Amino acid sequence: MDKLLIRGGNRISGTVAASGSKNSALPVIAATLLTPDGTFTLNRIPDLQDVRTFSALLEYLGAKVSFENNVLRVSTDQLKSIEAPYELVKKMRASIYVLGPLLSRFGHTRVSLPGGCAFGPRPVDLHIMVMEKLGADITIEKGFIDAKVKGSRLRGARIDFPISSVGATGNALMAAVTASGTTILGNAALEPEIECLCHFLQKMGASIEGIGTTTLVIEGVERLRAVTFDNIFDRIEAGTLLSAAAITKGEITVTGVIPLQLESVIDAFRRAGCTVTTGPDSISLSAPEKLLPTDITANPYPAFPTDMQAQWMAMMTQAEGTSTIIDKIYHERFNHIPELNRLGARIEIRENQAIVHGPQELTGTKVMSTDLRASACLVLAGLVATDTTEVLRVYHLDRGYEKIEKKLTSLGADIERDRYQEFS
Ligand code: UD1
Repeated sequence: MDKLLIRGGNRISGTVAASGSKNSALPVIAATLLTPDGTFTLNRIPDLQDVRTFSALLEYLGAKVSFENNVLRVSTDQLKSIEAPYELVKKMRASIYVLGPLLSRFGHTRVSLPGGCAFGPRPVDLHIMVMEKLGADITIEKGFIDAKVKGSRLRGARIDFPISSVGATGNALMAAVTASGTTILGNAALEPEIECLCHFLQKMGASIEGIGTTTLVIEGVERLRAVTFDNIFDRIEAGTLLSAAAITKGEITVTGVIPLQLESVIDAFRRAGCTVTTGPDSISLSAPEKLLPTDITANPYPAFPTDMQAQWMAMMTQAEGTSTIIDKIYHERFNHIPELNRLGARIEIRENQAIVHGPQELTGTKVMSTDLRASACLVLAGLVATDTTEVLRVYHLDRGYEKIEKKLTSLGADIERDRYQEFS
């Protein structure tokens, strides 16, 4: 397996370009399953393990996929399977995104249940509820969701989500765009990745109103076509790079971004004492000598993202006082705390709150990644720790950060990748 060796103490400074978003690329790639009509060209797709896993899933289904220089070309005219197998789905929960498009195109699909994950049970009941409301019969058997359309086509319906779900909103959109009649999604997720999916579907010929609001109105159409599309930037990667500068008392400009989509994070950086300025497509951050303790609560967009919570916690270990971190989306997403504490942090959990007592000097040692954002948090901690921090199980990081050690090295960090053997 790969590990990262980080010799801490260097300031992060310079300019770096944001990569394309993983969380918008995955539903956009899934949506290519909706039409056999032509070849899609998707630009700014990040070269990540999750994208490769999703491409492998599409190829398993019979799609033709090529991926070079962040351009993914895909045609799904000759699909030969409607089943997403456990071996691929278990590697990545987002595989559930094939449920809507396959059901809508073929009237029948079987998708393996994703199973557990590192932070909590993460059910798929809302995805199933959506398909049932749109007129599918669902049975769960032998670990698979078996979905069949009653009649010839899915039928538009009113669906009110009891909680905001990015994935279930995405799946509902992909199923509804070719259903007969009107679908209204209430309490739909507002995340920029959903907005991106809407724009992609519109370009394919779908009729969607209310984009950027919590009520989406979809008028089903008969046909969609393949298109060329530019993916949006990865706001979580950009936020992580800004944190790298903030935690090391550095200065950074991240280009190729839409600052508005990071407003809650920018606001938190300012409360932490950072100077942040924005241009039309860039964000610049200059860190203070001493970070201020800053409480955050992760909630659905436009609030502070859960996917930035672990990185924020690493930063707060260096703040001059005590900060509280609450995650209202994944209450138990705190696997990074024991690892941060092994580096010398003082973080305790009281009910669903993480209390971070800063500032604490961190000392490098071996730490274990448990999930994608937890690994990013450990890399940030390594940047300020004395001695060498070894971040093990870097495959979690590789699922979501494109060329991360190259980017950080170009900004002054001392990081290298090495192989190691885990004892079984
Ligand atoms: C997406 C993101 C993930 C991010 C999360 C929340 C992708 C590929 N992943 O995940 O990085 O952390 O949004 O912003 O885009 N829920 C249910 N039943 C369901 C579905 C979800 O109860 O059927 C719950 C979840 O357990 C969670 C909440 O709804 O508490 C929100 O989850 P959701 O927005 O669906 O997350 P994902 O789309 O899986």
